[in-house]
Amino acid sequence: MFGRDFTSVLDLSPDELSGLLDLALGMKRDGSSPLLAGQTLALVFEKPSLRTRTSFEMAMYRLGGRALYLSPMEVQMGAREPVKDVARVLSRMVQGIAARTYGHDTVLELAQYASVPVVNALSDDEHPCQALADVLTLRERYGSLRGLRIAYIGDGNNVARSLAYASVMTGIDLVVAAPVGYELPDETIEVARALQGGGSVVQVRDPYEAVRGATAVYADVWASMGQEDEAEQRAEDFAGYQIDMALLAAAPPDALVMHDLPAHRGEEISEEAIESPNSVVFEQAENRMHAQQAVLASILGGR
Ligand code: CP
Ligand code: NVA
Repeated sequence: MFGRDFTSVLDLSPDELSGLLDLALGMKRDGSSPLLAGQTLALVFEKPSLRTRTSFEMAMYRLGGRALYLSPMEVQMGAREPVKDVARVLSRMVQGIAARTYGHDTVLELAQYASVPVVNALSDDEHPCQALADVLTLRERYGSLRGLRIAYIGDGNNVARSLAYASVMTGIDLVVAAPVGYELPDETIEVARALQGGGSVVQVRDPYEAVRGATAVYADVWASMGQEDEAEQRAEDFAGYQIDMALLAAAPPDALVMHDLPAHRGEEISEEAIESPNSVVFEQAENRMHAQQAVLASILGGR
């Protein structure tokens, strides 16, 4: 069992991360157990979702508990009432909170004021549950993560940051190829490099350089939720950063194609690439449920 909240991959030690992957694989193999009977997880979402909402709801269901979805219109955190009041009200009625927010500060404020555990279901800065599912997908396929190489092509965003931390902590070598102005900040790279676990992170400009020798080639959207106004500019700035068959031809022939979804075909990934036989995007999506089942069993069920 790790500490109370899961707001960032940095809340885990490499051993705890590895333990969660073992637990997730075990739960995936053995099916459900009523570990969280009588417990409720509130899902407080400021942004839309398919995978995250469904995977948290199903993870709670499979553990014998229930989830309570609270939509952006319902709660209006920070507008209808202060974040700290939302945290304290929910803490009186539910056993855990999963929050999808714009500012990362909002998740941290919820965690500060809640007396129940808070899980980050995506913020502008991090998507730790996605990173867990991603490394789980690779672990399942290869048995061990040490020495695997992921080429992440695109924006140095929330998904890239969590993946960078999780990669270093699990022995994966991550190469990020981003256009000028869209790199992961130096501070993030420094924090990632200081982590234990034996992996590494480097940033390059050229996607073709990044995919050389890659075990997996990873894409995320060019414009994240909340950046809709920048979408047109970003489409110009990210030209040449699409994962397409030409780029995959520069990677090893068995390199996996990864994407956290939702995907914008024709932008960050081509139809042919995402539908290729090497694509594991739906394994990643399914593994969200198994990874979060392990997180919830750990922080709410003492596993
Ligand atoms: N990958 C992911 O978090 O998907 P949703 O935004 O649909 O939850
Ligand atoms: N970077 C994307 C991930 C979506 C799951 C976003 O934040 O919108």
